[in-house]
Amino acid sequence: MKNKTYSFTYSEFEQENELSVEDQKLLAMAKESAKTSYAPYSGYHVGAALRLDNGEIIKGSNQENVAYPNGLCAERVAAFYASSNYPGIAFETIAVTAQSDDFEINDPVTPCGSCRQVLSEYENKAEKPIRIIMQGASGKIILVNSVQNLLPFTFNESKLKNL
Ligand code: THU
Repeated sequence: MKNKTYSFTYSEFEQENELSVEDQKLLAMAKESAKTSYAPYSGYHVGAALRLDNGEIIKGSNQENVAYPNGLCAERVAAFYASSNYPGIAFETIAVTAQSDDFEINDPVTPCGSCRQVLSEYENKAEKPIRIIMQGASGKIILVNSVQNLLPFTFNESKLKNL
């Protein structure tokens, strides 16, 4: 038996102005997007902004439903819209933020497992890492350089095809 370690390097920023101008803009657009969230059940408004390789920025927000499982996270709303409307254009960076009706969110919002899996699909398809910028309504910002880092031991096509 061997014990093995998984680790990865990511960046942490105290405030927005430590990011590049492009990333600051993307994060600001994610915050704008949170305002379009439809979250009457959780009161948790998530905004995502996805920058494509062609420079286009796609916004998405979480959309809930009275039949709870039918709702969709902000990240997947943005990713599916992007892939539908810009097929074949790689995702470059996604910024994610959230605001709550009930409490202050000062810690970064990290994508749920389903969103990680979906983003991983597009990362593998394009063979290009997707950067992920995460922040709460305010507070410190985390930047991760690939979805793979957030989803180790990913189920991917090589396993499906026994490659
Ligand atoms: N949510 C997102 O939109 N993205 C995430 O990464 C985590 C959760 C949404 C789903 C639901 O509408 C609300 O936040 C509370 O879970």
